[in-house]
Amino acid sequence: MSVQSVLAYADDHQPQFLDELKTFLGIPSISTLPDRAGDVQRTAEWLADHMRSIGLEHVQVVPTAGHPVVLADWLHAPGRPTVLVYGHYDVQPVDPLELWESDPFRPEVRDENLYARGASDDKGPFFAHLKAVEAYLRTEGALPVNLKIICEGEEEIGSPNLDPLIYARAAELAADLALISDTTILGPDQPSIVYGLRGLCYMEVEVTGPDHDLHSGQYGGAVHNPLQVLCEMIASLHDAQGRVTIPGFYDKVRPLSSEERAELARVPYEEDHLRQETGVPKSWGEAGYTIAERIGARPTLEVNGMIGGWTGPGSKTVLPARALAKISMRLVADQDPDEIDRLFTEHIRRIAPDTVRVEIRGLAHGAPALVERDVPAMAAAARAYEAGFGVRPVFAREGGSIPVVATFQKALGIPTILLGLGLPDDRFHAPNEKFSLANFYRGIATIIHFHSALVGMLAE
Ligand code: BES
Ligand code: ZN
Repeated sequence: MSVQSVLAYADDHQPQFLDELKTFLGIPSISTLPDRAGDVQRTAEWLADHMRSIGLEHVQVVPTAGHPVVLADWLHAPGRPTVLVYGHYDVQPVDPLELWESDPFRPEVRDENLYARGASDDKGPFFAHLKAVEAYLRTEGALPVNLKIICEGEEEIGSPNLDPLIYARAAELAADLALISDTTILGPDQPSIVYGLRGLCYMEVEVTGPDHDLHSGQYGGAVHNPLQVLCEMIASLHDAQGRVTIPGFYDKVRPLSSEERAELARVPYEEDHLRQETGVPKSWGEAGYTIAERIGARPTLEVNGMIGGWTGPGSKTVLPARALAKISMRLVADQDPDEIDRLFTEHIRRIAPDTVRVEIRGLAHGAPALVERDVPAMAAAARAYEAGFGVRPVFAREGGSIPVVATFQKALGIPTILLGLGLPDDRFHAPNEKFSLANFYRGIATIIHFHSALVGMLAE
């Protein structure tokens, strides 16, 4: 099988690929807005029709309790590896709309970038996978591997209906590895393979004291203030080294090997870069770790918000009856969100004084993922990036989450290759989201190389 003719087809069909991607991006598949449910459904159907048109088989739009999942396959490479490609066809809301330079659902090319909601997260990168399939099937009439595709419409709302579907169809989805393009690379000339994603454990703590707000002069000094209690508890959750003080919090954290630290040190995330990106006067974090390690490889605890007492203009002398905090923890392998929920709950109960009542509730939970880097598919990905981008990729970890990666590990027992095509300035979830056309086309070439490299690698 000649990869050259496949690559040539992809090169020759760039204008057609771009037109089709524009059509895909033109349907406003915003999963969180009930008013857009029809558009989300329409996107799934458009995608299914497109998959059929390029020669994928068993294409189905599978209904769920929420938005549908699109499945497809091509299984005519007996004895060859099976790749499970995942993507999401849903997008984030577009607000604030006035900050967009062009309509988020009328894709527009400016300066070799395609501007639209979902351009880079994740319709563009996922579409590159379909175009790689098309290039193979139209030239060679076959793929070098067996391929299964699962594309969901609820990733941006936390994939609430995906895990049951994956567990129920585990046999149907069986594969040697999963392949996802839903992350960013370090720069246009520095591809990177993400091998770690953080998880999430989101909690809510409510402290109640008196059964109504009190006059602070009448009772101050005799009644423990719930806001003060909450502040004292929260302040004690980090020590002077920036470490989380919850007993057992770090017990399951897989330590960084010296090899991983060396690899992460190649990530150019400097103090100045952080200051410039965020506007902070100085970085902060756990002592003994670099910025890249703090974001990608260490667990953290953040106060997302607090409610309580008087916050209006002027002064009101009050001892509030209640105070509430939203606290989330980003987790790393091998921390378990349910166990962290338990450790957090036990710790807060332990440190809570008996002068107040404390209620603790668990909200969103998502598992972290760390992919083995010494699997043959990683070598195939490195070789593919080198061929597609002309540069050897580095390994990186991301602070964000893609919960399905852990599900693939647990339910199907397979590693995931995070073959990202986005750039750090693609403005995921923000106005003027864009996808670099160079990355779209180089991405298609990289995916073509990946499938062909995989055959050699897994055979070795
Ligand atoms: N594509 C992103 C994840 C991502 C963002 C990876 C940036 C690498 C760099 C994905 O669509 C997302 O936004 N995930 C959510 C998790 C979800 C449970 C809402 C996140 O990380 O907050
Ligand atoms: Zn995404």
